[in-house]
Amino acid sequence: MADLGTVPWPPEPIRTDRLVLRASEAGDRAAFVDLLASPEVHTYLGGPRPRAELERELPEVPERWPGSFVVDLDGAMIGQILLRRATGHRHPAAAGRADLGYLFLPRAWGCGYAAEACAAALGWLADALPGEPVVLTTQSANTGSMRLAAKLGFTEVERFEAWGAEQWLGMRPPRPPSG
Ligand SMILES: CC(C)(COP(=O)(O)OP(=O)(O)OC[C@H]1O[C@@H](n2cnc3c(N)ncnc32)[C@H](O)[C@@H]1OP(=O)(O)O)[C@@H](O)C(=O)NCCC(=O)NCCS
Repeated sequence: MADLGTVPWPPEPIRTDRLVLRASEAGDRAAFVDLLASPEVHTYLGGPRPRAELERELPEVPERWPGSFVVDLDGAMIGQILLRRATGHRHPAAAGRADLGYLFLPRAWGCGYAAEACAAALGWLADALPGEPVVLTTQSANTGSMRLAAKLGFTEVERFEAWGAEQWLGMRPPRPPSG
């Protein structure tokens, strides 16, 4: 995976009905530690990182790169959306495509925040990189993620075995830019 590189970054914060999507800031560091150390968040992502290692190694402003959105609810980070370039993807249909990932703190699950934030991030991408489809890979056992992918308009390209589990590769066709 590589960052989106060529897009103007950081963009103006994106506001939805309940959320703000923005680049990360120093004040997000503790929430990033919680997110990356959470066993629940990483059930289908190969396991969490040790909290002590994260406390030691995360930079002062974590995850500040083109395509990494912090999702902010009332001034506090509740999750991260990752829009990257799937440079090394093993599936030819996905290689080099824009790729969507999402991680939310468990306390923010079940409220529709992930769907609301991902839809806004995909809208931003349609303006920043017009005409590009977006791919998404998730474990098929990750039912919350599978439901979210369907809600966002991703449809199945293929299932494949990797990292000891069945993976679902989905694609979302290009959408017209908003403006
Ligand atoms: C995947 C993940 C982001 C899904 O989060 P989520 O909160 O379940 O997703 P959504 O935002 O779509 O919310 C869906 C739920 O909110 C409910 N909801 C409550 N209020 C709502 C509202 N106002 N609007 C919309 N939905 C609402 C919906 O009914 C739905 O419940 P259901 O799934 O039981 O049908 C979350 O589980 C997560 O971070 N997992 C760990 C990371 C991960 O595995 N990522 C995938 C790899 S890319």
